[in-house]
Order: sequence, then C-alpha cells, then structure tokens
Amino acid sequence: MTAAPLTSAEIEVLRAQFPILSREVNGHPFVYLDSAATAQKPRRVLDAERAYYEQANSAVHRGAHTLAAEATELYEEARRVVAGFLEVDENEVVFTGNATEGLNLVATAIGYASTGRGAGADFSAYALRPGDEILTTEVEHHANLIPWQELAARTGATLRHIPVRDDGMLDLDAATALITERTRVLALTHVSNVTGFVTPLERVVPLARAVGALVVLDACQSAPHLALHPRDLDVDIAVFSGH
Ligand SMILES: Cc1ncc(COP(=O)(O)O)c(C=O)c1O
Repeated sequence: MTAAPLTSAEIEVLRAQFPILSREVNGHPFVYLDSAATAQKPRRVLDAERAYYEQANSAVHRGAHTLAAEATELYEEARRVVAGFLEVDENEVVFTGNATEGLNLVATAIGYASTGRGAGADFSAYALRPGDEILTTEVEHHANLIPWQELAARTGATLRHIPVRDDGMLDLDAATALITERTRVLALTHVSNVTGFVTPLERVVPLARAVGALVVLDACQSAPHLALHPRDLDVDIAVFSGH
C-alpha cells in the first residue's frame, strides 16, 4: 500500500516541528536526506532533553537524594515506553550508548562465554569453538559485521555471509544451504540501510531456530519504519538506535 503524498500545508506543519529545518544551507532551504544515519530531532525531543538537564539531571540508579530518584523514575519511564513499543517486558530492554555498542556487547558476551567466563547475561549455550559458524549477510552495516569478525578471530569460529542476489534480495536458497548444525549465531539486518530491502525473516529465522542458533537482529532501520515486535519475529536480540 502506498501512502497518499502529503500536501504542502502538511509538509509545512511537519517541518515546523524540526527547528533545524528552518536554517538555510548554501542559500537554500534546508533539505535533510541522511535520516538513515541519524535523524533530526523534533522540538518535543529537544524540549524534553533540555527539561531533563535543567530540572532533573543526576545519577540514575546511583543516588539517594530527590533528584536522583526523579532522574531514575524518568529513565525507567523511558524503558517502559520502549518496552511498550516493542511489546516486550521492561526487564528485556537494555539501554546502551548506541546500536554499535549493543551489538558489540552481545558479541563480547558470547566471547566471554566461549572462554568459560560469564559476562552478566548467560550466553554459554552459544559458546563458540573452532568449527562453529557465525552467519551474517553481505549487506550488513559495519556495526553488525566487525563485532562478529572479531568474535570469529577470538574464538576460531568461521564467519560466513548469506549472499544477496542482483535484485538486492537475500538469496534464500543460499541461506538454506548455509544454515547448518554448525551455525551458532545468525546476525542479520531487518531493513538494509543501503537499499531499504526488508529481510524475509519469516523465511530465515525458522531455519536458524531449527539448528538452535542465537538470532541477533539489527533493527536500526526497521524500528523507525515498521512495527517492531521481536517476539513475533522470534528473534533473541533486537538492537536499534535511539537517534
Ligand atoms: C543498519 C544499521 N546498523 C547499525 C547502525 C549503527 O547505529 P548506531 O549509530 O546507533 O551505532 C546503523 C546506523 O546508521 C545502521 O543503519
């Protein structure tokens, strides 16, 4: 279904919510096309951030005074909002600095588990040994590639990539052949930040489930555009940016 184009008046109402769009660049009205990398912030976000720093800023979960209690409540309220958006439990939401850090955290935890040491979350079921495989795709953002390259180098596991066909779609035949008993982790993007293609998770995730692999979803480009419900998608971990 294609949405009806916005009218000029509707576009003006939307633009007015983003103070940065009122500036000129090289003598022209500002047009911003890099939202896939980071989005501009509407006034209500800017106002909320300013209000926080002007009225509540203090150590979250680390202070006994009034302001710390207020800051902690605001932080936990944000967690509740995110949990509601994802339709998951609050205790399943983990805040990190950005998606890159989140993905590195998962890979690092698996790395620790692979040495027999714990790292908070228990990933011992996915401890990697030489001969095991980590599977990604050919269209991953560096944030969902380098952590797995490093994890493979640290553990002796092999990193494989599901190829992408000439039309930009994931090669599902290749995915079927590549997902085997050796696959311990499947880490793939939900929506490509390059092409916008949506990964047919309903075709790929069951294959990983059948071999007991951990499924890690890079949801950076789907969180702003799709209903993102990790439970329905049957993924173990979904990572996305707040920005
Ligand atoms: C698909 C994808 N994954 C990961 C990232 C990295 O996100 P972050 O900047 O939050 O680390 C981006 C950022 O553009 C992205 O598009």
